[in-house]
Amino acid sequence: MTANYETREHDVLIIGAGGAGLRASLEALAQGASVGVVCKSLLGKAHTVMAEGGIAAAMANVDTADNWKTHFRDTMRGGKLLNNWRMAQLHAQESPDRVRELEQWGALFDRTETGDILQRAFGGHTFKRLCHVGDRTGLEMIRTLQDRGVQQGIDVYMECTVTRLLTDGGRVAGAFAYWRESGRLIVFKAKSIVIATGGIGKAWRVTSNSWEYTGDGMALAYEAGAELMDMEFVQFHPTGMVWPPGVQGILVTEAVRGEGGILRNKLGERFMEKYDPKRMELSTRDVVARSIYTEVKEGRGTEHGGAYLDISQKPAEYVKKKLPSMYHQFKELADVDITKGPMEVGPTCHYVMGGIRVGAETAESTVPGLFAAGEAAAGLHGANRLGGNSLSDLLVFGRRAGLAAAQHAKQVSAPSIDTAQIEQSERELLAPFSNTGVESPYAVHRDLQEVMQNLVGIFRAEEDLKKALVELGKLKARAAKAGVEGSRLFNPGWHLSYDLKSMLTISEAVTHSALARKESRGAHSRIDFPNLDSLWEKKQNIIVRENGAMQRRENPVEEMPAELKQVLAEDKS
Ligand code: FUM
Repeated sequence: MTANYETREHDVLIIGAGGAGLRASLEALAQGASVGVVCKSLLGKAHTVMAEGGIAAAMANVDTADNWKTHFRDTMRGGKLLNNWRMAQLHAQESPDRVRELEQWGALFDRTETGDILQRAFGGHTFKRLCHVGDRTGLEMIRTLQDRGVQQGIDVYMECTVTRLLTDGGRVAGAFAYWRESGRLIVFKAKSIVIATGGIGKAWRVTSNSWEYTGDGMALAYEAGAELMDMEFVQFHPTGMVWPPGVQGILVTEAVRGEGGILRNKLGERFMEKYDPKRMELSTRDVVARSIYTEVKEGRGTEHGGAYLDISQKPAEYVKKKLPSMYHQFKELADVDITKGPMEVGPTCHYVMGGIRVGAETAESTVPGLFAAGEAAAGLHGANRLGGNSLSDLLVFGRRAGLAAAQHAKQVSAPSIDTAQIEQSERELLAPFSNTGVESPYAVHRDLQEVMQNLVGIFRAEEDLKKALVELGKLKARAAKAGVEGSRLFNPGWHLSYDLKSMLTISEAVTHSALARKESRGAHSRIDFPNLDSLWEKKQNIIVRENGAMQRRENPVEEMPAELKQVLAEDKS
């Protein structure tokens, strides 16, 4: 081994620079910590921008009856009561302040006639609750946080991939990484690490996620001994583009339905009348995704295998003002003018509700000094996330993670770095160059996407899940042999061979968890167990690495306090 690497040291290292990572970094910096932010992509390129329609926060600017209790209730009901109740409470209580703070930092929200932040309807929210900037809210959030981060002086390591967390006697000590452009190695020393790397959408074929979302942070935490929780809950957003093939999966924001868009099948039927006559198009995402899928499966889909989503009954100027990105997206990518006719849409893998198990107050995982926030963390959303709750999640728990990580760093002594761990990480990272190229990482990735799409999708069954586990085992063996050509300079095949390892580990965690949960709840629909089973409400489905192998176990859920039970019971609608 060369031991040829540069070293950097920070109190707090943040892995991931989407909304959660940036918000965490700002908070840690405000606490006086030295902060480094590592991201494998360019700064500002994050899945946060795919939360287009808004930030859910009970500001009560449009519907004055809204308050944190209603937001809490909606979130818990949307998550089929599997949510960590304390996280749901903190999220509902703190979101309005986090939005106001974002505004003070320069975010330019759409306005009501009286000058307040405008809020729109979204599925599963009782009131108009989504603070928005047209259909580019996530982008505005990233722009604002990024500007502030740069102005406040965060150190950013862009196009840098962390492949392993370094530990010292069971606590976090740092991270091993490489520069994607040059292939050079870099070691970070840190007292606290915040994982904010998002999800694992790239393991499915039809996805709204871009190339970065390969489950890295969850895999890093798992390898370091952290618990993953409720991994079976994968959200298929009901509306992604279905045509042309090259753009399949790209998100069509829920704001289209929030602004009055109507779903129809090829017979012209407004089919949501059948599935959720009360909430119709603004039902929760799990329900709408299953409804579209069912219409297509039963032969009532559109020409390209989706449903029609139509907003053209609204005035053209209204559509262009409220949904400018959608207007351009369909015009440029599909040659469809959405002010004149319907879009074709279908479910797309968008988000994972499961993730690293963390404490509600501090976002700390079961590994001392390791924190997680945003999509990488589990708990807030339970079995199904409501649209718009992700951006507020990033702000509320990004801030909490940054705060706790900085406090932790103040309390602990400097960890020591174990060179054996570095050498081992280097060997693993460079292994694909020694493989002889019998297997291509691209072929393994393509086959993984087919397995997850076809066997671990919207509807699941024991037989398929067992088959998926067998296939994942074969894919792991193939991935271990995958070779890459060329050098460490600008080598995307090499990058993918590392990403594949994370995707395979986390796909296995999803599949194991899905096989074990013998009920249907939220985004997890078992055709062989179609009902809710109240026993599953009382336990967390945990995946952990023990003796070098993936193990599943169950943790009891902490009882909800009486005053929150009261809030949940207040409205039966
Ligand atoms: O449809 C959307 O705009 C996505 C929002 C979200 O995932 O929160």
